[in-house]
Amino acid sequence: MTRPTPETVELVPADYFRALRREEIFSNFERRLELDVGCGDGTFLMEMAARFPERNFLGIERLGGRVRKISRRAARLGLANARVLGLESSYALGWLLPEGCATRLHLLFPDPWPKKRHARHRFVHGENLATLHRVLASDGEFLFKTDHPDYFDEATAAVDESPLFSRLPWLDSGEFYAVTDFERQWMEEGKRIQGARWVKRPGSAT
Ligand SMILES: C[S@@+](CC[C@H](N)C(=O)[O-])C[C@H]1O[C@@H](n2cnc3c(N)ncnc32)[C@H](O)[C@@H]1O
Repeated sequence: MTRPTPETVELVPADYFRALRREEIFSNFERRLELDVGCGDGTFLMEMAARFPERNFLGIERLGGRVRKISRRAARLGLANARVLGLESSYALGWLLPEGCATRLHLLFPDPWPKKRHARHRFVHGENLATLHRVLASDGEFLFKTDHPDYFDEATAAVDESPLFSRLPWLDSGEFYAVTDFERQWMEEGKRIQGARWVKRPGSAT
């Protein structure tokens, strides 16, 4: 296996206007692929990749500085199963990534848009549920965590009511699930963190 470099960790599509093929994301594309949407500084992405070398992890992050930092760090750590895509997540999930490619999608501490008039910018809402459904494999899972009580209530109500997903209990306590950078900060501040998990239901989102 060739050692990753920052250039091979960052996923730069050859063409942004057609769906990627699975082998363009990871050459060993038969493995499970997990997406970390809005991956921030990549703490979760890289810890999970180190812990589960038999799975592949793709982070999606729109801030270029964070993408470059993750690329350098993952290369330094020799993580051949972690990549990062510097792009707007709605476009990546809705159009660029192949349909049914992901066995898990992690949305961890997304921007909460706490002001009422900005709440429409929150990622978990009706239209984006079809996008999440599209990118998940059959039996694929959507995992969500936030420190923001209103966002948690709104998101869980929307997904629970959707015919596209069924609620599952959170992971068994024995299953490793890395703490994210923001999560660590909120835990230090004593904030309450809530998480929810759903499985994709069969059928079409349209
Ligand atoms: C609050 S931070 C959480 C980061 C990380 N998940 C964590 O828990 O430490 C949200 C991240 O999502 C990224 N982000 C927000 N909206 C995005 C979008 N539409 N597409 C891609 N990334 C986005 C932000 O740039 C930021 O890095």
